[in-house]
Amino acid sequence: MRVVSGIQPTGNLHLGNYLGAIMRWAKMQDEGECLFFLADLHAITVHNDPAELTANVRGMAAALIACGIDTERSILFNQARVSAHAELAWLLNGTARIGWLNRMTQFKEKSGKNREGASVGLYVYPVLMAADVLLYQATHVPVGEDQKQHLELARDLAAKFNTDFGVDLFTLPEPLIGETAARIMSLRDGTAKMSKSDPSDMSRINLSDDSETIAQKIRKAKTDAEPLPATMAELADRPEARNLVGIFAAFAGRTADEVLADYAGSGFGAFKPALAELTVETLRPIRERYLELLAHPSEIDAILARGAERAAVLARPTLEGAYAALGLPRGG
Ligand code: AMP
Ligand code: TRP
Repeated sequence: MRVVSGIQPTGNLHLGNYLGAIMRWAKMQDEGECLFFLADLHAITVHNDPAELTANVRGMAAALIACGIDTERSILFNQARVSAHAELAWLLNGTARIGWLNRMTQFKEKSGKNREGASVGLYVYPVLMAADVLLYQATHVPVGEDQKQHLELARDLAAKFNTDFGVDLFTLPEPLIGETAARIMSLRDGTAKMSKSDPSDMSRINLSDDSETIAQKIRKAKTDAEPLPATMAELADRPEARNLVGIFAAFAGRTADEVLADYAGSGFGAFKPALAELTVETLRPIRERYLELLAHPSEIDAILARGAERAAVLARPTLEGAYAALGLPRGG
Protein backbone atom coordinates (compact mmCIF):
# COMPACT_ATOMS: atom_id res chain seq x y z
CA MET A 1 0.00 0.00 0.00
CA ARG A 2 1.47 3.33 -1.03
CA VAL A 3 -0.33 6.46 0.11
CA VAL A 4 0.18 9.79 -1.64
CA SER A 5 -1.62 13.04 -0.92
CA GLY A 6 -1.11 16.76 -1.31
CA ILE A 7 -2.44 19.90 0.27
CA GLN A 8 -2.36 23.45 -0.98
CA PRO A 9 -0.05 25.66 1.06
CA THR A 10 -2.44 28.32 2.23
CA GLY A 11 -1.95 30.79 5.02
CA ASN A 12 -4.11 29.44 7.73
CA LEU A 13 -5.04 25.86 8.36
CA HIS A 14 -8.49 25.36 9.81
CA LEU A 15 -10.55 22.59 11.30
CA GLY A 16 -11.85 21.53 7.86
CA ASN A 17 -8.31 20.89 6.65
CA TYR A 18 -7.44 19.11 9.86
CA LEU A 19 -10.48 16.82 10.15
CA GLY A 20 -11.06 16.45 6.40
CA ALA A 21 -7.47 15.72 5.41
CA ILE A 22 -4.58 15.96 7.85
CA MET A 23 -5.88 13.90 10.74
CA ARG A 24 -6.43 11.09 8.31
CA TRP A 25 -2.95 11.56 6.90
CA ALA A 26 -1.48 11.05 10.32
CA LYS A 27 -3.48 7.84 10.76
CA MET A 28 -2.54 6.55 7.30
CA GLN A 29 1.06 6.37 8.46
CA ASP A 30 0.22 3.17 10.34
CA GLU A 31 -1.17 1.53 7.24
CA GLY A 32 1.32 2.05 4.48
CA GLU A 33 4.29 3.91 3.09
CA CYS A 34 3.25 7.57 2.86
CA LEU A 35 4.31 10.52 0.75
CA PHE A 36 2.77 13.88 1.64
CA PHE A 37 3.48 17.15 -0.10
CA LEU A 38 2.65 20.83 -0.18
CA ALA A 39 1.07 21.49 -3.58
CA ASP A 40 2.92 24.73 -4.31
CA LEU A 41 2.82 24.12 -8.08
CA HIS A 42 -0.96 23.96 -7.80
CA ALA A 43 -1.00 27.19 -5.81
CA ILE A 44 0.36 29.27 -8.71
CA THR A 45 -2.73 28.53 -10.82
CA VAL A 46 -4.45 31.42 -9.08
CA HIS A 47 -2.90 34.79 -8.37
CA ASN A 48 -0.25 34.48 -5.70
CA ASP A 49 2.27 36.60 -3.96
CA PRO A 50 5.71 34.90 -4.18
CA ALA A 51 6.89 35.85 -0.69
CA GLU A 52 3.59 34.74 0.75
CA LEU A 53 3.80 31.42 -1.10
CA THR A 54 7.25 30.71 0.35
CA ALA A 55 5.96 31.53 3.84
CA ASN A 56 2.83 29.44 3.35
CA VAL A 57 4.84 26.39 2.31
CA ARG A 58 6.83 26.62 5.55
CA GLY A 59 3.76 27.36 7.64
CA MET A 60 1.80 24.46 6.23
CA ALA A 61 4.75 22.10 6.64
CA ALA A 62 5.02 23.17 10.29
CA ALA A 63 1.31 22.55 10.76
CA LEU A 64 1.53 19.07 9.22
CA ILE A 65 4.41 18.08 11.47
CA ALA A 66 2.54 19.52 14.46
CA CYS A 67 -0.50 17.45 13.50
CA GLY A 68 1.52 14.25 13.66
CA ILE A 69 3.20 13.70 10.30
CA ASP A 70 6.37 11.82 11.25
CA THR A 71 9.06 12.92 8.82
CA GLU A 72 11.24 9.88 9.52
CA ARG A 73 8.55 7.38 8.68
CA SER A 74 6.82 9.40 5.97
CA ILE A 75 8.18 11.52 3.15
CA LEU A 76 7.20 15.18 3.46
CA PHE A 77 8.20 17.68 0.76
CA ASN A 78 6.98 20.49 -1.44
CA GLN A 79 6.11 19.73 -5.05
CA ALA A 80 8.38 22.38 -6.57
CA ARG A 81 11.43 20.68 -5.09
CA VAL A 82 10.78 17.55 -7.19
CA SER A 83 10.85 18.51 -10.87
CA ALA A 84 9.37 15.16 -11.92
CA HIS A 85 5.88 16.49 -11.02
CA ALA A 86 5.97 19.27 -13.62
CA GLU A 87 7.62 16.99 -16.17
CA LEU A 88 5.14 14.16 -15.91
CA ALA A 89 2.22 16.60 -15.96
CA TRP A 90 3.40 17.84 -19.34
CA LEU A 91 3.79 14.31 -20.68
CA LEU A 92 0.25 13.48 -19.52
CA ASN A 93 -1.17 16.55 -21.27
CA GLY A 94 -0.89 14.61 -24.51
CA THR A 95 -3.25 11.95 -23.19
CA ALA A 96 -5.72 14.02 -21.14
CA ARG A 97 -8.85 15.02 -23.09
CA ILE A 98 -10.37 18.50 -23.15
CA GLY A 99 -13.79 16.91 -22.66
CA TRP A 100 -12.67 15.42 -19.35
CA LEU A 101 -11.39 18.74 -18.06
CA ASN A 102 -14.59 20.48 -19.16
CA ARG A 103 -16.52 18.30 -16.73
CA MET A 104 -14.48 19.30 -13.66
CA THR A 105 -16.77 21.05 -11.22
CA GLN A 106 -13.90 22.63 -9.26
CA PHE A 107 -12.72 24.52 -12.34
CA LYS A 108 -16.24 25.77 -12.94
CA GLU A 109 -16.51 26.93 -9.33
CA LYS A 110 -13.07 28.51 -9.15
CA SER A 111 -13.22 30.25 -12.52
CA GLY A 112 -16.78 31.43 -11.90
CA LYS A 113 -18.17 33.89 -14.39
CA ASN A 114 -14.72 34.92 -15.56
CA ARG A 115 -13.81 31.68 -17.35
CA GLU A 116 -11.98 33.43 -20.16
CA GLY A 117 -9.79 35.20 -17.63
CA ALA A 118 -8.87 32.08 -15.63
CA SER A 119 -5.33 30.75 -16.00
CA VAL A 120 -4.60 27.77 -18.23
CA GLY A 121 -2.96 26.26 -15.16
CA LEU A 122 -6.26 26.28 -13.29
CA TYR A 123 -7.83 24.41 -16.18
CA VAL A 124 -5.16 21.69 -16.39
CA TYR A 125 -4.77 21.51 -12.61
CA PRO A 126 -6.23 17.96 -12.51
CA VAL A 127 -3.52 16.74 -14.89
CA LEU A 128 -0.80 17.92 -12.51
CA MET A 129 -2.71 16.27 -9.69
CA ALA A 130 -2.77 13.02 -11.67
CA ALA A 131 1.00 13.30 -12.19
CA ASP A 132 1.43 13.80 -8.43
CA VAL A 133 0.00 10.41 -7.61
CA LEU A 134 0.91 8.41 -10.72
CA LEU A 135 4.61 9.28 -10.33
CA TYR A 136 4.78 7.29 -7.11
CA GLN A 137 2.53 4.39 -8.11
CA ALA A 138 0.12 5.47 -5.38
CA THR A 139 -2.41 2.82 -4.49
CA HIS A 140 -4.43 4.99 -2.08
CA VAL A 141 -5.07 8.72 -2.06
CA PRO A 142 -6.80 10.22 0.98
CA VAL A 143 -8.71 13.34 -0.10
CA GLY A 144 -11.79 15.34 0.78
CA GLU A 145 -14.99 14.72 -1.14
CA ASP A 146 -14.33 17.79 -3.30
CA GLN A 147 -11.27 16.08 -4.85
CA LYS A 148 -12.96 12.81 -5.76
CA GLN A 149 -13.67 13.89 -9.31
CA HIS A 150 -10.01 14.77 -9.84
CA LEU A 151 -8.98 11.32 -8.66
CA GLU A 152 -11.37 9.73 -11.11
CA LEU A 153 -9.70 11.73 -13.85
CA ALA A 154 -6.31 10.44 -12.65
CA ARG A 155 -7.58 6.87 -12.99
CA ASP A 156 -8.96 7.53 -16.48
CA LEU A 157 -5.70 9.12 -17.47
CA ALA A 158 -3.61 6.25 -16.13
CA ALA A 159 -5.78 3.67 -17.89
CA LYS A 160 -5.78 5.54 -21.20
CA PHE A 161 -2.01 6.05 -21.16
CA ASN A 162 -1.38 2.38 -20.37
CA THR A 163 -3.74 1.30 -23.17
CA ASP A 164 -2.69 3.84 -25.80
CA PHE A 165 0.99 3.07 -25.40
CA GLY A 166 0.65 -0.63 -24.63
CA VAL A 167 2.44 -0.40 -21.31
CA ASP A 168 1.71 -1.38 -17.74
CA LEU A 169 3.27 1.77 -16.33
CA PHE A 170 0.75 3.48 -14.10
CA THR A 171 -1.08 2.06 -11.09
CA LEU A 172 -4.74 3.12 -10.85
CA PRO A 173 -5.09 4.99 -7.53
CA GLU A 174 -8.04 4.48 -5.21
CA PRO A 175 -9.52 7.57 -3.57
CA LEU A 176 -10.00 7.29 0.19
CA ILE A 177 -12.83 9.61 1.18
CA GLY A 178 -13.21 10.18 4.92
CA GLU A 179 -16.54 9.12 6.35
CA THR A 180 -17.35 10.90 9.60
CA ALA A 181 -16.08 14.35 8.74
CA ALA A 182 -15.58 14.40 4.98
CA ARG A 183 -17.00 17.92 4.88
CA ILE A 184 -16.76 20.33 7.78
CA MET A 185 -19.15 23.23 7.38
CA SER A 186 -18.97 26.88 8.36
CA LEU A 187 -19.91 27.69 11.96
CA ARG A 188 -22.08 30.53 10.63
CA ASP A 189 -23.85 28.64 7.83
CA GLY A 190 -24.31 24.88 7.87
CA THR A 191 -24.72 24.76 4.11
CA ALA A 192 -21.34 26.37 3.25
CA LYS A 193 -17.99 24.61 3.59
CA MET A 194 -15.66 25.82 6.31
CA SER A 195 -13.14 27.74 4.26
CA LYS A 196 -10.08 29.94 4.60
CA SER A 197 -11.70 32.35 2.14
CA ASP A 198 -14.84 33.00 4.19
CA PRO A 199 -14.66 36.71 5.13
CA SER A 200 -15.92 35.96 8.65
CA ASP A 201 -13.22 34.55 10.93
CA MET A 202 -16.05 33.37 13.21
CA SER A 203 -17.01 30.85 10.50
CA ARG A 204 -13.93 28.72 11.08
CA ILE A 205 -11.59 27.47 13.77
CA ASN A 206 -7.98 28.09 12.81
CA LEU A 207 -5.25 25.79 14.08
CA SER A 208 -3.49 28.89 15.39
CA ASP A 209 -6.51 30.06 17.44
CA ASP A 210 -5.92 30.14 21.17
CA SER A 211 -8.18 28.26 23.55
CA GLU A 212 -10.36 31.22 24.47
CA THR A 213 -10.96 32.09 20.80
CA ILE A 214 -11.92 28.50 20.01
CA ALA A 215 -14.34 28.31 22.92
CA GLN A 216 -15.91 31.61 21.92
CA LYS A 217 -16.36 30.57 18.29
CA ILE A 218 -18.11 27.39 19.35
CA ARG A 219 -20.29 29.26 21.85
CA LYS A 220 -21.37 31.64 19.10
CA ALA A 221 -21.77 29.02 16.38
CA LYS A 222 -25.14 29.18 14.66
CA THR A 223 -27.61 26.55 15.87
CA ASP A 224 -31.36 26.16 16.29
CA ALA A 225 -33.60 26.01 19.34
CA GLU A 226 -34.50 22.30 19.14
CA PRO A 227 -32.97 19.68 21.43
CA LEU A 228 -30.71 17.05 19.86
CA PRO A 229 -32.43 13.88 18.59
CA ALA A 230 -31.17 10.32 19.02
CA THR A 231 -29.97 9.71 15.45
CA MET A 232 -28.27 11.58 12.61
CA ALA A 233 -31.15 10.71 10.29
CA GLU A 234 -33.36 13.08 12.30
CA LEU A 235 -30.90 15.92 11.71
CA ALA A 236 -31.41 15.84 7.95
CA ASP A 237 -32.92 19.35 7.88
CA ARG A 238 -30.64 20.86 10.52
CA PRO A 239 -27.27 21.41 8.82
CA GLU A 240 -25.70 23.43 11.66
CA ALA A 241 -26.53 20.81 14.27
CA ARG A 242 -25.34 18.05 11.97
CA ASN A 243 -22.03 19.81 11.50
CA LEU A 244 -21.35 20.28 15.21
CA VAL A 245 -22.22 16.66 15.98
CA GLY A 246 -19.95 15.58 13.11
CA ILE A 247 -17.05 17.60 14.52
CA PHE A 248 -17.60 16.13 17.99
CA ALA A 249 -17.63 12.61 16.56
CA ALA A 250 -14.44 13.16 14.58
CA PHE A 251 -12.56 14.42 17.63
CA ALA A 252 -13.94 11.74 19.90
CA GLY A 253 -13.18 8.98 17.38
CA ARG A 254 -16.80 7.80 17.53
CA THR A 255 -19.70 7.71 15.10
CA ALA A 256 -22.14 10.62 15.06
CA ASP A 257 -24.95 8.31 16.15
CA GLU A 258 -22.92 7.23 19.18
CA VAL A 259 -22.44 10.87 20.13
CA LEU A 260 -26.17 11.54 19.72
CA ALA A 261 -26.99 8.56 21.90
CA ASP A 262 -25.26 10.46 24.75
CA TYR A 263 -26.83 13.85 24.01
CA ALA A 264 -30.34 12.96 22.83
CA GLY A 265 -32.80 15.36 24.45
CA SER A 266 -30.10 17.88 25.40
CA GLY A 267 -30.03 21.37 23.98
CA PHE A 268 -26.99 23.19 22.67
CA GLY A 269 -26.53 24.76 26.09
CA ALA A 270 -25.20 21.38 27.21
CA PHE A 271 -23.65 20.20 23.97
CA LYS A 272 -21.60 23.27 23.04
CA PRO A 273 -19.47 23.43 26.22
CA ALA A 274 -18.62 19.73 25.82
CA LEU A 275 -17.67 20.28 22.20
CA ALA A 276 -15.62 23.35 23.10
CA GLU A 277 -13.67 21.45 25.75
CA LEU A 278 -12.95 18.53 23.43
CA THR A 279 -11.83 20.87 20.64
CA VAL A 280 -9.65 23.02 22.89
CA GLU A 281 -7.92 20.02 24.47
CA THR A 282 -7.26 18.32 21.13
CA LEU A 283 -5.89 21.42 19.44
CA ARG A 284 -3.75 22.72 22.31
CA PRO A 285 -0.65 20.50 21.79
CA ILE A 286 -0.92 20.94 18.03
CA ARG A 287 -0.86 24.73 18.30
CA GLU A 288 2.09 24.66 20.68
CA ARG A 289 4.25 22.47 18.42
CA TYR A 290 3.20 24.52 15.39
CA LEU A 291 4.33 27.82 16.90
CA GLU A 292 7.61 26.27 18.05
CA LEU A 293 8.42 25.01 14.53
CA LEU A 294 7.50 28.33 12.95
CA ALA A 295 10.21 29.95 15.06
CA HIS A 296 12.81 27.70 13.32
CA PRO A 297 12.25 28.06 9.53
CA SER A 298 15.66 26.64 8.55
CA GLU A 299 14.76 23.39 10.29
CA ILE A 300 11.56 23.21 8.26
CA ASP A 301 13.47 23.84 5.02
CA ALA A 302 15.95 21.09 5.84
CA ILE A 303 13.12 18.62 6.44
CA LEU A 304 11.48 19.52 3.11
CA ALA A 305 14.77 19.27 1.20
CA ARG A 306 15.47 15.83 2.67
CA GLY A 307 11.92 14.72 1.84
CA ALA A 308 12.31 15.93 -1.73
CA GLU A 309 15.50 13.90 -2.17
CA ARG A 310 13.74 10.76 -1.03
CA ALA A 311 10.70 11.49 -3.23
CA ALA A 312 12.83 12.12 -6.34
CA VAL A 313 14.40 8.68 -6.03
CA LEU A 314 10.97 7.04 -5.95
CA ALA A 315 9.64 9.16 -8.84
CA ARG A 316 12.48 8.50 -11.24
CA PRO A 317 11.58 5.04 -12.63
CA THR A 318 8.01 6.10 -13.46
CA LEU A 319 9.14 9.31 -15.13
CA GLU A 320 11.75 7.43 -17.18
CA GLY A 321 9.08 4.89 -18.09
CA ALA A 322 6.76 7.62 -19.34
CA TYR A 323 9.43 9.22 -21.56
CA ALA A 324 10.31 5.78 -22.95
CA ALA A 325 6.68 4.80 -23.59
CA LEU A 326 6.20 8.02 -25.57
CA GLY A 327 9.30 7.42 -27.67
CA LEU A 328 11.13 10.41 -26.26
CA PRO A 329 14.90 9.84 -26.09
CA ARG A 330 16.61 11.60 -23.18
CA GLY A 331 20.14 12.82 -22.69
CA GLY A 332 22.33 12.28 -19.64
P1 AMP B 1 -7.95 23.74 0.68
O1 AMP B 1 -7.21 24.47 1.73
O2 AMP B 1 -9.34 24.21 0.48
O3 AMP B 1 -7.17 23.64 -0.61
O4 AMP B 1 -8.09 22.26 1.18
C1 AMP B 1 -6.99 21.47 1.57
C2 AMP B 1 -7.49 20.09 1.99
O5 AMP B 1 -8.42 20.18 3.06
C3 AMP B 1 -8.22 19.32 0.89
O6 AMP B 1 -7.90 17.95 1.00
C4 AMP B 1 -9.68 19.55 1.18
O7 AMP B 1 -10.48 18.50 0.72
C5 AMP B 1 -9.68 19.64 2.71
N1 AMP B 1 -10.71 20.57 3.14
C6 AMP B 1 -10.76 21.91 2.98
N2 AMP B 1 -11.86 22.45 3.53
C7 AMP B 1 -12.54 21.40 4.06
C8 AMP B 1 -13.76 21.29 4.77
N3 AMP B 1 -14.52 22.35 5.07
N4 AMP B 1 -14.16 20.06 5.17
C9 AMP B 1 -13.41 18.97 4.89
N5 AMP B 1 -12.25 19.01 4.24
C10 AMP B 1 -11.81 20.20 3.82
N1 TRP C 1 -6.00 19.38 -5.32
C1 TRP C 1 -5.84 19.05 -3.93
C2 TRP C 1 -6.63 20.02 -3.07
O1 TRP C 1 -6.98 21.08 -3.46
C3 TRP C 1 -4.40 19.08 -3.51
C4 TRP C 1 -3.63 18.08 -4.27
C5 TRP C 1 -2.72 18.35 -5.25
C6 TRP C 1 -3.67 16.67 -4.12
N2 TRP C 1 -2.20 17.18 -5.72
C7 TRP C 1 -2.74 16.15 -5.06
C8 TRP C 1 -4.39 15.80 -3.30
C9 TRP C 1 -2.55 14.78 -5.20
C10 TRP C 1 -4.19 14.44 -3.43
C11 TRP C 1 -3.28 13.94 -4.39
O2 TRP C 1 -6.86 19.72 -1.93
